[in-house]
Amino acid sequence: MLSVLRLRRLVRQVPLQTSFIFLFLLCILSVFLSSYFLYAVKRKLEPSLAAGRSADDLYVTPSRPLPFLSGVGGTLSSDGSRTDPVVLVLTWKKCNIVKYYYDANEKSLLSAQLKGFPLFLHSNLGLKDCTVNPKSPLLHVTRARQVFSGPLPGDDWTVFQSNHSTYEPVLLAKTRSAESTGLMHTSVVQDLGLHDGIQRVLFGHNLSFWLHKLVFVDALSFLTAKRLSLSLERFILVDIDDIFVGKEGTRMKVADVKALVETQNELRRSIPDFTFNLGFSGKFFHAGTDEEDRGDDLLLSYVDEFWWFPHMWSHMQPHRFHNQSVLAEQMMLNRRFAEDHSIPTHLGYAVAPHHSGVYPVHIQLYEAWKRVWDIRVTSTEEYPHLKPARFRRGFIHRGIRVLPRQTCGLFTHTIFHKDYPGGPQELERIIDGGELFLTVLLNPISIFMTHLSNYGNDRLGLFTFKRLLNFLLTWTHLKLQTLPPLQLGNKYFQLFPSDAEPLWQDPCEDKRHKDIWSKEKTCDRFPKLLLIGPQKTGAMALYLFLGMHPDLSSNYPSKETFEEIQFFSSHSYHRGIDWYMEYFPLPSNSSSDYYFEKSASYFDSDVAAARAAALLPRARIITVLSDPVERAFAWYQHQRAHADPVALKYSFHDVITASHNAPVKLQVLQKRCLAPGWYATHLSRWLEHYHHDQILVVDGQTLKTDPASVMEKIQTFLGLENQVDYHKTLAFDPKKGFWCQLLDGGKTKCLGKSKGQRYPDKQSQVFLRNYYRDGNIQLSKLLYKMGQVLPGWLREDLLNIR
Ligand code: A3P
Repeated sequence: MLSVLRLRRLVRQVPLQTSFIFLFLLCILSVFLSSYFLYAVKRKLEPSLAAGRSADDLYVTPSRPLPFLSGVGGTLSSDGSRTDPVVLVLTWKKCNIVKYYYDANEKSLLSAQLKGFPLFLHSNLGLKDCTVNPKSPLLHVTRARQVFSGPLPGDDWTVFQSNHSTYEPVLLAKTRSAESTGLMHTSVVQDLGLHDGIQRVLFGHNLSFWLHKLVFVDALSFLTAKRLSLSLERFILVDIDDIFVGKEGTRMKVADVKALVETQNELRRSIPDFTFNLGFSGKFFHAGTDEEDRGDDLLLSYVDEFWWFPHMWSHMQPHRFHNQSVLAEQMMLNRRFAEDHSIPTHLGYAVAPHHSGVYPVHIQLYEAWKRVWDIRVTSTEEYPHLKPARFRRGFIHRGIRVLPRQTCGLFTHTIFHKDYPGGPQELERIIDGGELFLTVLLNPISIFMTHLSNYGNDRLGLFTFKRLLNFLLTWTHLKLQTLPPLQLGNKYFQLFPSDAEPLWQDPCEDKRHKDIWSKEKTCDRFPKLLLIGPQKTGAMALYLFLGMHPDLSSNYPSKETFEEIQFFSSHSYHRGIDWYMEYFPLPSNSSSDYYFEKSASYFDSDVAAARAAALLPRARIITVLSDPVERAFAWYQHQRAHADPVALKYSFHDVITASHNAPVKLQVLQKRCLAPGWYATHLSRWLEHYHHDQILVVDGQTLKTDPASVMEKIQTFLGLENQVDYHKTLAFDPKKGFWCQLLDGGKTKCLGKSKGQRYPDKQSQVFLRNYYRDGNIQLSKLLYKMGQVLPGWLREDLLNIR
């Protein structure tokens, strides 16, 4: 069924400034069965007519009430029991799809009037020969031109009948046994809102029928006054990868090349400037039979008729090249081949064999592409994953626009119609209202991947796109277009600007990704533990103590960001996972290496939790929470100690109480001071992305006074076999006033000096207690739900609130 998530994609085409509102509106848009209506169905039933009338007697137009049949009519499922009819009511109310199922075991009647509505339902019917009502005001994408002949899927359809002008049929169909009468029944009806002021669209079945999906898209558009609407523009690009790569006997011959050009011209009648985009690996030029080599020659004689893009010279997978220069040399061979054969080299688009190196990103590929070919656009099916296809997205990395690529049901091995997987009808099914049709319907831009072998032999590629075009033109008003890849890349990110940001995932979590990731890289080089801060709660001390454990290894310090990597919370994220991995040692023994990283900016970052969860879904997360009032003050002191001019200029009280009219710099400092203390808000964000069992909240106060007990708890949390007794390895340094690492010879290694005064003035304390009160209550509820012990300072705070 068309899912709401899929439809969210529709929203992304609305202008940027309104997209947020539309997303919200989408959320409140409901596709729901007014179950109370149908509940009423069981109570308030229209009097039945004489038994013995058949379902074929149902009346066709909605201008006259139906003669209702109780307990008869409708098609029973093969075992004679009633199936579960579904009526979807699409309106503008709730956020979720609610399907109402009749209870198959109930002896409820099959025909009824909706309570309070002049609408009658007949259920459990088998239907056929569906047609679109050309007068329906709903139609936008859907074109009412033809009859969809044949049975509709399922025996459990509901049809609607009414004599009220509020109801306008959208789809009509015959009952399967209506051969003689040819009466049409309304299977999708639009309620114009003339009866009770609410507009609805009622579907007499779920969305498994392709015409329902099509009409559903229009219904969304109509009910939201086009706010949730796609434009009619659809861009299609057909790549023919490996135009010279194919075994003898499967390649294109002269006649195939001619057919390709002819079909291109034919497609151009409906898709202006439609041009096949040919990918080449020069090494395989003239590698077929004599006849096939003549095909290659003819193809090159038409060089200006097509768009061209480079593969690798020998079709090698780029991720196998660790050395960027060697990779670039391979690319140069292909470039020279192109130049020798007058193939254009300036088109800026390339595709990597087997998606290798594009995602997961192999930086060497990106850099070599830019150097040798000035590549600015590529495409892949692998981001974020091959399946489900509807979630594929684009991203931008190192200036290269990566566009999502769609599958059209053709692969290198699909050569003959009769051998098509699932039988010859399967390809037609995919095109005629199936996956391929839906791909074009729901994606403003579709880049399809096909292969040389689809254009020789039975020429399934030509068959597929001609048929697809024909189907689209028959059933939709879509305006089909094409663009060269560079322009298509720009178009894509105009339509989906938020896609530009990539989300890196662990390549080893997806077998397909792992297969195209360099063997020189290992997923064991990622941390298994993140210490997320926030700042000034003791995270640094904890980092030091964790590093004392023989099984734990911390990251190398970063020179740029105060020793912390801050990968997930900063712009460094765009450098990619190879950059991140460089901060961890090469694993010596992958099973025992347990890396951890501390970046105090992760805790309150808007993006860090989602990014971390994408790359490190199994990681353990530790946050240290101390009294937010003290934390805010310590942070302010820290800023002064680091000569922050704004902190030096204003008192703590000035900072925390600054109003909206205060100087911007002061407001910025205030936010940085106070926002990390909204613990519940930030923790909730982490809980959206990690299971609560993966998160440990450490009491900052206990860490200060009894770190050994905290370390014991942490070791259990991490499941470390080797339990270290920190009572023996830590010592309290009275001069420093802190617990420190005990070194050989009785010396201690402590963190820097305490920064002086610990508590803010009384007035500021009162202000902040009040400020954090609600947040602390929320935090206590959250920790309770997580099954975590409340920190002492929080318990105290809650007691004072009472
Ligand atoms: P001050 O620097 O204000 O004294 P973070 O490392 O998260 O920035 O937190 C610094 C705070 O950690 C210190 O604040 C100090 O109060 C606290 N802390 C807890 N245990 C500590 C320890 N063993 N050594 C040093 N500081 C510790």
